[in-house]
Amino acid sequence: MKKLIALAAIVFFIFSAAYFTSCNNSSDKPAEDTAADSIQQVIQHGEYLATNVAMCIHCHSQRDFTKYSGPVTTGTEGGGGQLFDEKIGLPGKIYSRNITPDNETGVGTWTDDELLRAITHGISKNGDTLFPLMPYPNYNRMAKEDLLSIIAYIRTLKPIKNKIPERQLMMPIAAAYPGQYLQASVDGNIKPSAEDIVKYGEYLTTMADCGTCHSPLTPQGPDMSRIYAGGYIFELASNKVQSANITSDTATGIGSWTEERFLNKFLPFRKEESYNFNPGNQNTEMPVIEIAGMKDSDLKAIYAYLRTVKPITNLVEKFPK
Ligand code: HEC
Ligand code: HEC
Repeated sequence: MKKLIALAAIVFFIFSAAYFTSCNNSSDKPAEDTAADSIQQVIQHGEYLATNVAMCIHCHSQRDFTKYSGPVTTGTEGGGGQLFDEKIGLPGKIYSRNITPDNETGVGTWTDDELLRAITHGISKNGDTLFPLMPYPNYNRMAKEDLLSIIAYIRTLKPIKNKIPERQLMMPIAAAYPGQYLQASVDGNIKPSAEDIVKYGEYLTTMADCGTCHSPLTPQGPDMSRIYAGGYIFELASNKVQSANITSDTATGIGSWTEERFLNKFLPFRKEESYNFNPGNQNTEMPVIEIAGMKDSDLKAIYAYLRTVKPITNLVEKFPK
């Protein structure tokens, strides 16, 4: 009997709590809707991260290089098959894989843990090692809540049937595996508070992997000891482009840039008209459109963080012959 009363009291408490919260919100939505709303929020957050911050979709889709910076071709989101090869300094041909929920050619049958392992440890469902062109060493440092939001979102992508060709590497994959830099578990990763703008900016810059592209390209790959100094050369169909020095060096980096100038590098690309560009003009490999889609506060945090990175003198010609 005592038990029953206690239970009744708990039930009453939950009921009244729900009642009072709904009064406070002056909303008469039933409880199910509230749960659906929070799932929706997780998915939306995942979409933002996968599209604009970690840029999964940018790599895992087809791109239209008749437009500025090669935006994603609508309808191919997550379907994979984008080729990365020697033209961007890679030791062979690597294709992004199909991460839509297609059961046969995508990740439809993968569990959350299998996805998490691929995203943070570079191990595919069947145990194969993934080439670290996908920045899984960076994702290995992400907060689990962000990783799980991304997973929740990619499960909502439209399934696309697209079988991806085998990669052709000129080196053993084991030699490329950055195992020593990976933490066994991501459970302890903490997402810095947005108030701590520099730390939070570092978190975002890591997730966006600005560093690999913005390091000097050597025959052994990007020289991460000079991270952010620029000098990675990409051979596009239309032109060559070299990544800029984004360290705080005032003469050759962005040390003298104001926050406004930094934002203005990206903000015009929130408008679709700006994607159009005349063939014959210089194109870029940087995912400018995706970065432009970041929240102002996130761009400002990245700027704040980049101001604190060690200045490196490295004069880069953006459009080498
Ligand atoms: C810079 C490009 C790039 C980015 C950014 C990127 N990926 Fe990848 N991803 C790849 C490539 C390329 C492969 C295949 C690597 C290989 O063949 O060794 C891959 C492989 C995968 C796989 C393994 C699929 C399979 O069938 O084995 C998953 C899952 C995946 N990526 C998910 C993601 C998610 C989620 C994100 C964002 C958090 C992401 N990727 C960001 C390029 C990228
Ligand atoms: C896929 C490679 C790639 C990635 C990823 C990338 N960049 Fe770039 N970035 C470039 C290239 C190439 C250029 C030079 C051409 C241009 O201006 O677009 C460049 C130029 C820039 C410039 C202009 C600097 C100047 O002197 O004009 C800034 C600022 C910049 N990047 C910041 C970033 C930030 C911040 C990130 C991460 C959020 C990032 N980039 C990610 C390749 C990349």
